[in-house]
Amino acid sequence: MFDKLMNFPKWFGDWNKNNPTDIYGPIIVMGVAGTAVIAVVALLAFGQPFATNSLQTGPRGIGMSVPEFKSDLATPDPGIAALAEIGEQDGDIIAAMQAWTGIPNLFEDPDSYQTAVAGLMISMTQNINENWDGHVNANKQVGVTCYTCHRGQPVPSEVWYSITPVNTNMAGWSANQNRATSNSQFTSLPSDQLETYLVDAQAIAVHDLESRAAGIPGKDGYPGIQHAERTFALMNYFANSLGVNCVFCHNTRAFYDAGQVTSQWATASLGILMVQELNNDYIVPVGALLPEERLNPRTGDVPKLACKTCHKGYQQPLQGTDVIGNWPQLQSTDAVIDLP
Ligand code: HEC
Ligand code: HEC
Ligand code: HEC
Repeated sequence: MFDKLMNFPKWFGDWNKNNPTDIYGPIIVMGVAGTAVIAVVALLAFGQPFATNSLQTGPRGIGMSVPEFKSDLATPDPGIAALAEIGEQDGDIIAAMQAWTGIPNLFEDPDSYQTAVAGLMISMTQNINENWDGHVNANKQVGVTCYTCHRGQPVPSEVWYSITPVNTNMAGWSANQNRATSNSQFTSLPSDQLETYLVDAQAIAVHDLESRAAGIPGKDGYPGIQHAERTFALMNYFANSLGVNCVFCHNTRAFYDAGQVTSQWATASLGILMVQELNNDYIVPVGALLPEERLNPRTGDVPKLACKTCHKGYQQPLQGTDVIGNWPQLQSTDAVIDLP
């Protein structure tokens, strides 16, 4: 049939019939070998497509490092270019604040809630730059402006709402777990970790070297399993907020030991205290000024901030761009801005 179709001479068909050969085995072997040769040539010519750089975190010689894809490192945060486009606005702080928050008529109407909120936001930003200098200028001058959080939008991205109570109609206590929420990053871990640790300021302490043979976890003076899960949910949030993994801050053989951590752990500890203060002293009170459509429609809760509101998935916001250098008006709580 085949040789008829292809119009091969008759002797060829006969010869084939008399000399049956397994051609599939050799073809597969040749194919695999050929693909391998092509892959090796491509790797030699173009390099490894998933090459990583290794960011050393702990002391030298103990292998504590965070691997990062070179391709990711070569892709700058698009927020940096967008900020360059906004430019320095000739040093006009009012024009700059309007551009950073994307509210062109900000401060024009003294009765608008946005003007009232902006006043508190100025105090908050000055407070961050002056009193949390150990965090926002930890490595070099970086600082924050309205743009760090707002990125040209009236409401910043990566804000969050309280999740408690999860469901008051359900029998029993759901423990705020097993809910597909962005707070839990869609895991089965508790969704109330930001509320518990970054607003209510409960102690983050679950790991020590005590035996758990006696007593009941969660009672009897030591934390329960759910505390560990909630802590893990918080730590996942930290890692995702900065785009790093656990060894960026910890020596994973001893999570409990503040003597075996990286310098970034200390910066993060300051960050925890800073976020607690910002939420309690500024963001929650601001809620009283906000119109209903800005609040959570179900609970009436205020949008709150945390690590990712500034960091947006990067180790340093805007990859360490110095945003504060040209704006002394926002560097100190003593600076006075003449509002129109
Ligand atoms: C650390 C993060 C952060 C910084 C810095 C920041 N903001 Fe905000 N801002 C927020 C959050 C979060 C909200 C959401 C409302 C709330 O929860 O209070 C908000 C809301 C606002 C609103 C209300 C917008 C609306 O339409 O509801 C205005 C206006 C505003 N900010 C102005 C400013 C100005 C001006 C600056 C700089 C001087 C600034 N913000 C700096 C986090 C920040
Ligand atoms: C950006 C820094 C940072 C990252 C990333 C981070 N942590 Fe933490 N972690 C901390 C800080 C700071 C504390 C201490 C908080 C305190 O004591 O108030 C802590 C505390 C903990 C604790 C509680 C220790 C105790 O004393 O009981 C555990 C457990 C923990 N982290 C696990 C993890 C895990 C697992 C990861 C990765 C998913 C991780 N951490 C990622 C900064 C970080
Ligand atoms: C108000 C904005 C803001 C918030 C909120 C914030 N950070 Fe930061 N963070 C910064 C800035 C700006 C830097 C850069 C400092 C530098 O590199 O000099 C920074 C740096 C860091 C660093 C050091 C990174 C490095 O490369 O050394 C860590 C770790 C960190 N932040 C963790 C956190 C954690 C954890 C939270 C939440 C609990 C948090 N940050 C919340 C603004 C913020």
